[in-house]
Amino acid sequence: MSSPEITYLGFDWSTQTLKAVIVNDDLQILQEAEVQYDSDLPEFRTHGGILRGEQGEVVAPPFMWVKALDLILDRLTLEGADFSKVVALSGAAQQHGSVWWAKGCSELVSSLDSKNFLHEQFALAFSLLDSPIWMDSSTKKWCNQIENGVGGPEALAQITGSRAYERFTGAQIAKVFETKPHLYESTERISLVSSFACSLFAGKIAPIDFADGSGMNLLDIAKKTWDTKCLEACSDHTLLEKLGNPIESHKCIGNISPYYVERFAFDEKCQVIEFTGDNPSTIAGMRLSQGWIAVSLGTSDTLLLSLREPHTVQDGHILCCPIDPNMYSALLCFSNGSLVRKGVRDRLADKSWELFNTMLDSTPRGNFGNMGLFFDSPEIIPRGVGFGKWLWNRSGVLVNKLAPENEIRALLEGQFIARRVHAEDMGFVIDENTKILATGGASANKSILQVMSDVFNAPVYVQDSANSALLGAAYRAKHGLMYHNASDDEKPTFETITSGVPSPTLVCTPYSDAEQVYKPMLERYKEYVQSIVKENMTY
Ligand code: ADP
Ligand code: XUL
Repeated sequence: MSSPEITYLGFDWSTQTLKAVIVNDDLQILQEAEVQYDSDLPEFRTHGGILRGEQGEVVAPPFMWVKALDLILDRLTLEGADFSKVVALSGAAQQHGSVWWAKGCSELVSSLDSKNFLHEQFALAFSLLDSPIWMDSSTKKWCNQIENGVGGPEALAQITGSRAYERFTGAQIAKVFETKPHLYESTERISLVSSFACSLFAGKIAPIDFADGSGMNLLDIAKKTWDTKCLEACSDHTLLEKLGNPIESHKCIGNISPYYVERFAFDEKCQVIEFTGDNPSTIAGMRLSQGWIAVSLGTSDTLLLSLREPHTVQDGHILCCPIDPNMYSALLCFSNGSLVRKGVRDRLADKSWELFNTMLDSTPRGNFGNMGLFFDSPEIIPRGVGFGKWLWNRSGVLVNKLAPENEIRALLEGQFIARRVHAEDMGFVIDENTKILATGGASANKSILQVMSDVFNAPVYVQDSANSALLGAAYRAKHGLMYHNASDDEKPTFETITSGVPSPTLVCTPYSDAEQVYKPMLERYKEYVQSIVKENMTY
């Protein structure tokens, strides 16, 4: 039975905006509000929510994120929010960014004065006034240091789920430790953006959760503890204390701070559920259970999937799953997605998706044995291929040209074959239970989705996913509370809690010959990709 008197509150501190949503007990949206950092808080002079420095540095002021919270709570009130009905809240935030708290921060967050705005009380809260964020690429040197410290990139990926990445928090910490030792020393705690935001509500410095913690190159994702070698490769013995112990993503952190009770009339029993990163929160918002694979066909193509075991991967990231502590999630990002498709459309189909689709639909599955791989910019997965376009005929011979409609099909089949091969490499099993949830700009294109359906031999569904990370926060608030309140033998699963949310819509099913057509092409891809990494040809 749902209760009309109960609501849940979710937040998403993303790169450009802070968003909030209140949902009812049936998880339907009641109120929403948004703060745009650039236009609503122009005093911070951010562009796209960030500030760019030298040598690839990208930062954002945590003080701005605090001020955004002051604003959004007022905006929610104007939207008619009744905070006294909120029984639990949770949140999402951009992954990898770190917030550096000055000494005295625990005391500060536990004694907020409800007569004043939050930002009036956080002026001296941070040791590092600008937080490094996920777009930062200034830490190559420290990536090498961490990989060397644990025995190489493979060893690091085996422990933490990813080889060293510049935006990951471990390398960022190592950089501050070496280049700003006084500042490092004057830091009481280091939070991720998600656990920092959680701390603002919890009245104490909140722990880092396992899912977002998997984006740091510091967490042993199998043991779910900080890895000593990784910590040592970044800084000194004080790091452990600065990070605090990580915890499961669905854990209840405690009652909301009295600040919100006194200032906004929240119920004092309102529970704060651990916050997490935006990608883990999207997994929750899409309710991605086992067998499902979410494919975002945006500027780049991103795959999110669930796994039983944490496989070691060279490229891509394995994270602890935010909604099921026994599972893992994988994140694979392919940089050559919609922009390449659009480039080929403009060149061969008169800049029209309609003509592009007509040409595509006029060619058969398997494209008479022709295949193609297209990389307009450096690719993340597979690593090391040059820019270029490669076309092979049915005999496996490289050719310069195909008929335009065959080139269009070669592009799409090549892209989806790559997505499938690399998802399977990560240990994702594609079988009769596999279902694909398509999102992003190109998910509006049914002809493209049909190719994906055939290559994966799986049905494709769509869902309005504009706010998956934000909704995921509200869904997690409900699950976290129900889990916390239930007795040990009655702990509810995330799936049960969100079962009333409308299911995605089926748009395509694979043709019966799909597996027969594409299975051999998956093998051909593996062979071809090795040859182009080696030869590094360009056109
Ligand atoms: P982002 O990753 O920047 O959020 P979107 O998910 O909004 O991007 O996707 C934008 C991309 O979607 C554009 O590059 C555009 O070419 C592509 N796109 C939009 N409509 C279609 C369509 N009908 N068919 C194929 N691609 C499309
Ligand atoms: C993931 C990543 C981005 C940020 C965006 O690894 O860096 O998706 O989480 O906010």
